[in-house]
Amino acid sequence: MTATYTIDTFIGEVKEILEEDGSSEAGLERIAGRMRVLAQHPELAGEEPIGNIHTGSQSRPLYQDDSGLILVRAMFGPEKMTPIHSHGSWGVIGVYKGRDQYQVWQRLDEGTGAGEAKVALVEERILEPGEAVVLPAPPQDIHAQRGHDGQPTYEYVLFGANTMVLPRLYFDPAQSTAQEVLPGQR
Ligand SMILES: [Fe+2]
Repeated sequence: MTATYTIDTFIGEVKEILEEDGSSEAGLERIAGRMRVLAQHPELAGEEPIGNIHTGSQSRPLYQDDSGLILVRAMFGPEKMTPIHSHGSWGVIGVYKGRDQYQVWQRLDEGTGAGEAKVALVEERILEPGEAVVLPAPPQDIHAQRGHDGQPTYEYVLFGANTMVLPRLYFDPAQSTAQEVLPGQR
């Protein structure tokens, strides 16, 4: 009998990779490979409503532990892009339902925190269900997204640190500034 694939299966694989490779580029790419499998299992997201990660109505994590590792679900509506933002942690995003208009932004200055901050859009792509992308370690974990084609997008997001309590940065490319925002503030 084949073992059933569960959240625990995924987390077990992630921990094995982190032990072997840490959160190196190679390690995060391997985790993205496992995330592509998890993203083919929308049923593991459960039935409860999913909060908007940027308005504070955060839903219960699917997994979290004392190391900071946390797996959450996120929903992004099609109305408008999220702010250009970072979470203060590496992460891996896997779309399990809907399509995601996903932007990768890069910080061009030497800074890591709030205040003056030069950022530029480096890539925009549509993520299909089953696709996964890596959020590199800070300060380059900068992105923006929305549901594509007038539909919301739903995704699993694994973070290396508990981003539900860490401050985030919201970037304004026109003003070349970044503002620190606590999760749930806006
Ligand atoms: Fe985000």
